[in-house]
Amino acid sequence: MPAGLFLSIEGIDGSGKSTQLELLTARLKREAVPYLLNREPGGSEVGNQIRQILLEPKNPVSPTAELLLYFANRAQNVDEQIRPALGEGKLVISDRYTDSTLAYQGSARNLGQGLVASLHAIACRGTEPTLTIYLRITPELSVKRLGQQKKDRLEAEGRAFHERVFEAYEALAHADSARIVVVDGDRKQTAIAEEIWRIVMDRWKQRD
Ligand code: TMP
Repeated sequence: MPAGLFLSIEGIDGSGKSTQLELLTARLKREAVPYLLNREPGGSEVGNQIRQILLEPKNPVSPTAELLLYFANRAQNVDEQIRPALGEGKLVISDRYTDSTLAYQGSARNLGQGLVASLHAIACRGTEPTLTIYLRITPELSVKRLGQQKKDRLEAEGRAFHERVFEAYEALAHADSARIVVVDGDRKQTAIAEEIWRIVMDRWKQRD
């Protein structure tokens, strides 16, 4: 059996990840590609409970507790979802992974990349995406797209926070261009979907 492939998708709030994941998974189904869609926060029963704690605007979660909760969620999903699916030769797609923690907690919350990297080693134990799609939009477009809709605890952070998240993603993409593929998220959904499909299928066909 060929090995699985671990892919993550990243972007600032409002980047269009959810729409693109719907289009991608619908096509994977049609083409009978075996896949698992993981979501963080969320992605498992335990993860969904952690997601509620993390995103409820009324919860006064401290920055360090927030960091640890994202990694508790990830550790659970790595053991329960991601590793078994990779072992079965599936395409695992994670809607956010540690790049999100580097951008939101490491940079925007200023907890530091070193601390995030140490926790990543404990929680993920070498389970790394070989391909990451970074759906890039500007913070201005993010504000426009999120508009007046009800915001979760992270989305409700101020403009400076979201600009730091954006800058962190830009730096990550620059530093690891072999893994992170930048996809322009400010285009027609069908054009973006076509580009993502091509990138994913190229890697899927080349897997060991
Ligand atoms: P979502 O809107 O993609 O479901 O993600 C929920 C929020 O959680 C989003 O604002 C980004 C944030 N987040 C972090 O701050 N750190 C993380 O490690 C992850 C996975 C998400």
